[in-house]
Amino acid sequence: MSPRPDAVRGATIVGTGMYVPARVLTNADLETMVDTSDQWIRERTGIAERRIAAPGEASSDLAAHAARRAMESAGLTPNDIDHIMVATTTPDRILPSCACTVQSKIGARRAAAYDMFAACTGFVYGLGLARGLIGARVADTVLLIGVETLSRIVDYSDRNTCVLFGDGAGAVVLRSCAVDEGLLAITMHSDGELGDVLEVPAGGSRCPATSDTVEARDHFIKMHGRKVFPFAVRSMEESLLGALELGGLSMADIDLLIPHQANQRIIDALQERVGIGAERVVSNIDRYGNTSSASIPISLDEAVRAGRLKPGDCVAFTAFGGGATWGSSVMRWTMPAPLGVHAAAHGSASVDGVVRKVGA
Ligand code: UT7
Repeated sequence: MSPRPDAVRGATIVGTGMYVPARVLTNADLETMVDTSDQWIRERTGIAERRIAAPGEASSDLAAHAARRAMESAGLTPNDIDHIMVATTTPDRILPSCACTVQSKIGARRAAAYDMFAACTGFVYGLGLARGLIGARVADTVLLIGVETLSRIVDYSDRNTCVLFGDGAGAVVLRSCAVDEGLLAITMHSDGELGDVLEVPAGGSRCPATSDTVEARDHFIKMHGRKVFPFAVRSMEESLLGALELGGLSMADIDLLIPHQANQRIIDALQERVGIGAERVVSNIDRYGNTSSASIPISLDEAVRAGRLKPGDCVAFTAFGGGATWGSSVMRWTMPAPLGVHAAAHGSASVDGVVRKVGA
């Protein structure tokens, strides 16, 4: 019997994919560019290297690769997709949206397509929107992508920021499921009063591009890192505990926590405050740095392909970012492990078939 058209339904992830550009920028490379050291970067951030898009390679290119992998892992074709949401701060152009360019690249002709601008929290916000659209039967099959080419807005003469960020894309496909499975609870927050702590001052309608703004390097990210740090830990802790409460769960129920990858010290502080062991927390910041809205879907795809999630597990996502924005979600995992994946030891992640120790 087919379900009543007004029956409540949930939303779950049915496919995951990721893509990072081939070029690796190491801490040793950065030592030749600014006054920094491999030791400082590793000790203060946990980052060893990050990926950088090739000249001419834009966010939609990275996003399309990740999207194809997510559709393939879901066993779906572009024609099955009816919504494409792209969470990004670095679209190819101001107009049209990155999502429309992705729609054309992957040939998803039936899909509505639009960008979401919530900085590093974009993917978590996207999960909330996808849950609402699928639950309300506005969408059946949503392709949600987090993508950044932050290297295009990072000032490689500013050591406060250039050591942190990297490029990459992660994607998931969401479809309907039973209401007590998939995404169980989501919290989403913002505080525009904190807009100045992380910003790109020029290039928008407040301060349009001129030769003076380019000269002043105002098209690059400016950040008060010391102010962001405590906010990051507090906001992720509060929103994560809020999502757990909404979902009727406790931290002990969480099999895997995937936090936004901004700084290993932020991840360590968070896991200590919420009381979860490192073996249940995903970290790949050593290899990719901070890829903003892409960091959670990249981490999720690696965890899935390494066999770290099985149906029935509880997985939590938590993020904070410029705006300020922050939010968390918890879900009951429904996707079977990909074919050929053996249950991997916690603490491992696989990239294109290579299994490496996280943090090694
Ligand atoms: O997705 C959200 C994006 N943003 C974030 O998540 C940022 C959150 N904040 C952080 O991750 C950290 O605050 C940073 C990694 C940005 C900085 O670490 P910190 O431990 O807070 O260092 P600090 O800003 O307090 O700076 C300590 C010192 C300063 O020198 P003085 O003033 O003590 O002489 C900095 O100038 O370290 C200096 N410094 C560096 N030294 C070597 C700052 N950046 C560097 C660097 N290499 N790259």
